Amino acid sequence: MFARAIGFAPSGEYWRRLRRIASTHLFSPRRVAAHEPGRQADAGAMLRAIAAEQSASGAVVLRPHLQTAALNNIMGSVFGRRYDVSSGAGAAEAEQLKNMVREGFELLGAFNWSDHLPWLAHFYDPSNVARRCAALVPRVQAFVRGVIDEHRRRRQNSAAPDDNADFVDVLLSLEGDEKLGEDDMVAVLWEMIFRGTDTTALLTEWCMAELVRHPAVQARLRAEVDATVGAGGCPTDADVARMPYLQAVVKETLRAHPPGPLLSWARLATADVPLSNGMVVPAGTTVMVNMWAITHDAAVWADPDMFAPERFLPSEGGADVDVRGGDLRLAPFGAGRRVCPGKNLGLTTVGLWVARLVHAFEWALPDGAPPVCLDEVLKLSLEMKTPLAAAAFPRAA
Ligand code: HEM
Repeated sequence: MFARAIGFAPSGEYWRRLRRIASTHLFSPRRVAAHEPGRQADAGAMLRAIAAEQSASGAVVLRPHLQTAALNNIMGSVFGRRYDVSSGAGAAEAEQLKNMVREGFELLGAFNWSDHLPWLAHFYDPSNVARRCAALVPRVQAFVRGVIDEHRRRRQNSAAPDDNADFVDVLLSLEGDEKLGEDDMVAVLWEMIFRGTDTTALLTEWCMAELVRHPAVQARLRAEVDATVGAGGCPTDADVARMPYLQAVVKETLRAHPPGPLLSWARLATADVPLSNGMVVPAGTTVMVNMWAITHDAAVWADPDMFAPERFLPSEGGADVDVRGGDLRLAPFGAGRRVCPGKNLGLTTVGLWVARLVHAFEWALPDGAPPVCLDEVLKLSLEMKTPLAAAAFPRAA
C-alpha cells in the first residue's frame, strides 16, 4: 500500500502526478488559508485542556495535548472529521487512530533502518515486522475506505469543491489524467495523516521546550504577540505572518531540532556527483542527507549549540534564511523535487499554535523540577526523549 504514497513512490509519471495534485489542489495557499477555522478550533480545545490540567495538577505534560490537536487538525484537513476526546465514542476512535498512526510510524522506521543498516534486521525481526504490517494494512484500508464511501454518499454532484473542502472531496472531484483509483487514494490520504501529525506536534513541543529554557526569548515573543494582536485579540494566521520574531523562533527550533534530521532517509545518485572537496559520489550510490549535522556544523552556523533566534533577524545582523528548501544550510523540509509538499501547512500550524500557547499562558518549570532535558530520540522523526512538563500560568483574559 505504502508504495503508492507520494513519499515512497519512485520518481516517474505516477509520482509526478501526485506531486502536481498536492501542489495544485491539496496544499495550495488558498486551501491552507481556508482551513484556518479548523486550526483555530483545535488550538482553542487544546488551550482549554491545558488550563484544566494545570489547575488540577499544577503542571502540564504538553505532548498528549499537541498530539490530539495535531491529529484532529490533520484529520480535519484530510478527512473533514474531528474528535471530541472528552466524549466516549470520539475518544475511542481517536485513540484507535493514534495507535494506527504510531504503529505505521514504527514499522516504517524499522523498514528504513534495516534497509540501510542490515545488521539491525536482526533486532527488528523482519518476520515480526511483516506480520505487524500485514495486520495494520487492512485496518487502515477499512478505515480510509469507510471515510471515502461516506464522502461519496454525501457528494451531491461533481461541482468543483470549495476552498475549505477536505482532501477526500478534492481527490474525488478530480477528473481525467488527475483521477486516482481508490487504492491510490487510500495510500495518499493515509500518508498525509501519518506524516502531518507527529511532525507538527513534535516541532511545537521542541519550540515550547526552548521557550521554557529561555525565559527572555519567551518574554520577547509574548511582547511581539501582544503588540500584534492588540488588547483582547486572539492570534490569527495573518497576525503570525506579521511576527518576525515568532518566525525566527520557529526557524531556530527547526535548526536546533530538525524533525526529519535525515531527510528522506535515502536518495539514489542517478549520475556521478562531484563534490566541492574533490570527491565523487558514483552513480547508483544510496545517499542519506544528514541535515542535523549541517544545522549543527560550526563552519556553517556560529555557536550552533546556542538557541539564538536573532540569527534569523536581518534587522539585528542575522540572515533571512528560506527554510522551505531554498537554502541548503537549513532545509528541514528537504529541497528539490522531493521537498515536503506539506511545508506551508506545517509552518502555518506551528506558528499559530506557538503564538496561541504563548498568548494564553506563561510557561515555566514547576518549582523544584529538574531542567528541561533536550535529549533526542530518533524514530521516524526526531523527538524529545523526555516529554516536556511545564507549568502553564493562565494570563489575564
Ligand atoms: C513541521 C512539519 C513538517 C516537517 C519538518 C516535514 C519534513 C519533511 C521532510 C524532511 C521530508 C523529506 C524531504 C526530502 O527528502 O527532501 C518530507 C516529505 C514529505 N512530507 Fe513533510 N514535513 C512536515 C509536515 C508535513 C505535512 C503537514 C504533510 C502533509 C499533510 C507532509 C507530507 C509530506 C510528504 C507527502 C512528503 C513526501 C514528498 C515526496 O517524496 O515527494 N509533511 N517532509
